Amino acid sequence: MDFKNKTILITGASSGIGKQTAIEFAKNGANLILVARRKEKLDLVAQELEKFQTLVIVCPCDVSDKDQVKEMSKIVLEKFDSVDILVNNAGFAIYGLVSDLSIDEIESQMKTNYLGMVYCIKNFLPLMLEKKSGHIVNVASVAASFGLPGIASYCASKFAMLGFSEGLKHELKNSGVGITVVSPIMVKTNFFDHPSFETMPKYSPTSLSSKTVANAILKASNSPRLEIIVPSAVRVAVWLKNTFPYFINPILGKSFKNQLKSKN
Ligand SMILES: NC(=O)c1ccc[n+]([C@@H]2O[C@H](COP(=O)([O-])OP(=O)(O)OC[C@H]3O[C@@H](n4cnc5c(N)ncnc54)[C@H](OP(=O)(O)O)[C@@H]3O)[C@@H](O)[C@H]2O)c1
Repeated sequence: MDFKNKTILITGASSGIGKQTAIEFAKNGANLILVARRKEKLDLVAQELEKFQTLVIVCPCDVSDKDQVKEMSKIVLEKFDSVDILVNNAGFAIYGLVSDLSIDEIESQMKTNYLGMVYCIKNFLPLMLEKKSGHIVNVASVAASFGLPGIASYCASKFAMLGFSEGLKHELKNSGVGITVVSPIMVKTNFFDHPSFETMPKYSPTSLSSKTVANAILKASNSPRLEIIVPSAVRVAVWLKNTFPYFINPILGKSFKNQLKSKN
């Protein structure tokens, strides 16, 4: 797809996958709207993008707050006619047993990872539908297909994202607007800097670079598929789990519980 002069909005653009995705789109001549809470980090990303000579604006916003998302979308739509590609990437996880996490901690993951996506879609989809064009890319995780101990509430937020996207995809049929979920395995970013991951191994030897995921997001921006799993070989694991859950789930449960034990 030719991204030249397309308008791309990326949430969670101050770090990791979102930041790298902004760089890859800018390399391809796209105009960018960078969204996250930390303005100073967004300003640094915008500075890094100057060399690509595309239009970049910084919009600080907490996506878990629907009033802030509404305000942010007003500012964006005053500057741009519409958004061509909306990348819902802002997200985080808190590691811990459900019995140890507070309700606020569980709620906060749902509010950012799932409702943050819903708020952005509700504010930008109407204009996409009016223009009969555009694409939504939702960054989920393989945790959208596996309920894992220690990150149950994170998994729930990503399952919700995938289910919402699947339902919406049916609704968008023949509208000219597309939606694709990108589901990576572990990625080397600041995601694991949350204190709850303190004693956990941050990366495995198979961890992806944010560039690999960013490239999958560019591919997803024009894809007819519901979900792109990165790397694609992991599709086999999802298929095995869905087809033989009684065989696969005990193995998964045991290996992740061992990690939890070593944490404690
Ligand atoms: N790293 C992995 O192993 C991995 C694997 C699969 C999926 N993912 C998903 O990939 C996405 C990006 O994560 P990452 O790995 O790039 O982690 P990261 O480096 O920690 O980046 C997370 C981004 O989300 C933003 N963010 C968090 N809460 C926000 C909020 N309430 N409002 C607005 N922005 C918010 C952060 O910016 P501010 O703090 O400035 O707001 C930051 O830009 C997440 O959705 C994550 O679930 C990550």
